[in-house]
Amino acid sequence: MSADKCSIDKLLLATGNAGKIREMRELLTPLGIELVTPAELGIDLEVDENGETFEDNARLKATAFCAASGLPSVADDSGLCVDALGGAPGVHSARYAEPGGRKRKLLENMENTEQRAAKFVSSIVCAFPNGEELTATGECCGEIAREPRGDGGFGYDPVFYMAEFGKTMAEMTDDEKNAVSHRGRAMRELVQKLKEYKVN
Ligand code: IMP
Repeated sequence: MSADKCSIDKLLLATGNAGKIREMRELLTPLGIELVTPAELGIDLEVDENGETFEDNARLKATAFCAASGLPSVADDSGLCVDALGGAPGVHSARYAEPGGRKRKLLENMENTEQRAAKFVSSIVCAFPNGEELTATGECCGEIAREPRGDGGFGYDPVFYMAEFGKTMAEMTDDEKNAVSHRGRAMRELVQKLKEYKVN
């Protein structure tokens, strides 16, 4: 085995979110191992994300998918934390409003505020069948735009503006987003840890 490859040969991407799957595939490719999705294995699992932190929820998902598949499983729990809203929607980002209405609700709640600072947070847990786990986190700072812009990415990307690029995350290419995003940072930390991890 080459020194920069990890000692596992198959990893389950523990999510049904197509945007996350695309980004995770891209970011985990350097490991040179087989990546599989729940759909490819015929696993349909609804995990109750009732943890208080991103890491709690990532662990709940990673361990549930690991138990269902018998494979090392990587889960990301992530969200948008807005300063002017006291850190909301945070761990509730996926449930902030009905699908299709989340960005609009956020912009409405931010209508009269000049303080636009926000960050995306990603917490990742890789759960192994032997009960061990690896964790990683990443953050990405930006601001809430006045209106949505761009068709790329997913979720809140069209309203997350990064002044240093003059773009919302939805106006970036996948590579540009992965280079600076919360998930990109967390995944690179995980990749490093997976390379050092030895299955026992
Ligand atoms: P969960 O981690 O599946 O609970 O959902 C996280 C939610 O946060 C997603 O449904 C998105 O609404 C939002 N989110 C997380 N990461 C991103 C991102 O990279 N871009 C845009 N929205 C994101």
